[in-house]
Order: sequence, then structure tokens, then C-alpha cells
Amino acid sequence: MTRIFSGIKPTGHLTLGNYLGAVRQWVETDQHKADALFCVVDLHALTVDHDPARVRRLSRQAATLLLAAGLEPARCTMFVQSHVDEHTRLSYLLECTASDGEMRRMIQYKEKSARERASGGSVRLSLLTYPVLMAADILAYSADEVPVGDDQAQHVELTRDLAVRFNHRYGHTFTVPKAVLPTVAARVMDLQDPTTKMGKSHAETSGIVYLLDEADVVRKKIMRAVTDSGSSVVYDREAQPGVANLLEILASCTGGKPADLAERYDSYGALKRDTADAVLELLRPVRERHAELCADPGYVDAVLRAGAERARQVARPTVDAAYAAIGLMPPA
Ligand code: TYM
Repeated sequence: MTRIFSGIKPTGHLTLGNYLGAVRQWVETDQHKADALFCVVDLHALTVDHDPARVRRLSRQAATLLLAAGLEPARCTMFVQSHVDEHTRLSYLLECTASDGEMRRMIQYKEKSARERASGGSVRLSLLTYPVLMAADILAYSADEVPVGDDQAQHVELTRDLAVRFNHRYGHTFTVPKAVLPTVAARVMDLQDPTTKMGKSHAETSGIVYLLDEADVVRKKIMRAVTDSGSSVVYDREAQPGVANLLEILASCTGGKPADLAERYDSYGALKRDTADAVLELLRPVRERHAELCADPGYVDAVLRAGAERARQVARPTVDAAYAAIGLMPPA
């Protein structure tokens, strides 16, 4: 059976980008077609300046939202990364497989380290090695497919390289995974700056739709989205990035094609109104279910406990095999 692994980092409140780019595929397709594992990757949230209480709170919130979005514990395995030691155990072996040049070429490292330096902070070593831990997340589970948004494609490519290199040097140990991107909305852009990704850890929030935003806030953010100077509605990411972003969001919510939808509109106002309606329609049940689940934290804990138990069982044999393959002496 196909094995699927994916993760989400609790560095901020989940956004419409996370939902359309990743979580929706997990809910609608992945958990039904494969042995799927989904992880709140809390260790990854420690790679930048963080507040311990906030990371803890956001981890619980992310797990609760994944359930609210429709992940079913009977169909998939959901857990928190730091509850399963195999991730960090394997990560070190992969650090011994990767090169520092490879890490420095990662686009997210370049962007995030530049931002940290510009704001006078120091860059944590873990920000550089982040993609190695991500590779460990994936390889520990022998995942065949990794459903992600476009911004993670380079990290999955690196994971493939590391798996192939390790297998070549030490004998076949890892499955070589592939990234699976959604056909639309693989990169939802910020509504106020449609040339940058809608990111959950950005400081300026007026262009970001959060899954838990109140309905009137969502509507306001979409109605105020930056559009382009032309007056006609066309789907052209280069010339009209703001309009193209709205068309992609609308297409993703309604199942249409962005270019076809463009033909239906002759004003930006109507496009925004319909996009807001479609987003609200999609998010309403998620918000309602989230409120119900918040009233039952014991249920979320039980799901995560059982998930971690199963995850350990899946990961341990592969990680043990990697320890043996690389030349470490087994305990007596
Ligand atoms: P993270 O937490 O930034 O995002 C979680 C998922 O949401 C997707 N995504 C988007 N998709 C479309 N448009 C956007 N604006 C947008 N923003 C985020 C991301 O591509 C991702 O699929 N490094 C990963 C977490 C991770 C992981 C893993 C993922 C750690 N280990 C192993 C897969 C497998 C990250 O920071 O995702």
C-alpha cells in the first residue's frame, strides 16, 4: 500500500494557504487512498526565535484544526513530531550524509537567514539543518508520496537526493519519495502583496486569511485584496498577480479552472465577492468543528497518543536499519 507522509509547522495560526495547498488534499484524497501519516512538526518551530508557551499552544491548535478540517483518526495517523524520537535519531545520520553546501543552497534558508540577520538576530544552526530533519521525517516512514505546497518542493527534492545517496553508500535502506503538489493553489499568495507567499509567520497579517478568522474578517481581507492596474479579469500570474491569486483561490474552492473562471467576470468587485463567499463556505464547517473539539481536549490528546504509538512502530525498524547500515554497533 502506498505510504504518505506530510507535516505542518506550528509557527503561527494555520492559513488558507496551508489549507488549499496541503491540508485539503490530506483530508479529501490522501487519507482515503493510502496509509497516511500527518505530523505537527513542532521541532521545526524551534529553528527561529520562539516563545515556548506559544509553540505548545500552536501545536495543540494545529492538531485540533487538522481534526476539524476532516482528518479521521480511523483512516490516518496523526501525531506530534517531538513525541517520536525516531525523527531526531535519523536526522543525525542524514547530517552525516548531506553537505553544508547543499543546505546553504536551500531557498528557504537563504530567505529566512537573511531576514534574521537583517533584524539583528543570529541564525540558529538548526535553521541550516532544517531540511535534514525534514528528510528524516519523510524517510523514517518509508513514504512514497509527500503532499505539499510548492514552497516545500525543493526540500522534498533534497530528501530524494539524500535517500539515493544513503542507499548507494550503505545499501538499500530508504524509499525514495516524491512530492505531490495540488494542480491549483500550490502557492497561495498574500492578498496585500501577491508577489509573496501567504505565510503563517509573517508579521503583517492583513493579506493573510487564517482558518480561525471570523467570517467578517475573512470577507474584509478578501474585499481589500490588492488587484492590478488593468481593468479586465484575466488569468495571468505575471501581468496580474493579484487577480490571478483570487482566481486560483476561487478555482480551488469551487473546483473550476482559473482561466475559465476569469471569463465569467468583468469586474474585480464581483470576483472578490464570489471568492469571499466560496472561502467562507469552505471554512465555516472547519471553524464550527474546531469550536466543538476545543471543548474536548481529552479527545485530541487521545488521538495524538495513539498516533505517536503507531508512528513509532512504523518508523523504528527503518531507523534501526539505517543505524546498522551506516556502521553503528548494535547494543548487546
Ligand atoms: P509549513 O508548515 O510552512 O506548511 C504546511 C503545508 O502548507 C503548504 N503551504 C502552502 N501551500 C500553498 N500556498 C501557501 N501560501 C502555503 N503556505 C504553506 C506547505 O507547502 C506545506 O505543505 N517544512 C514544512 C513542514 C514539514 C514537512 C515535513 C512537510 C516538516 N517536515 C515532512 C512534509 C513532509 C513546512 O514548513 O510547512
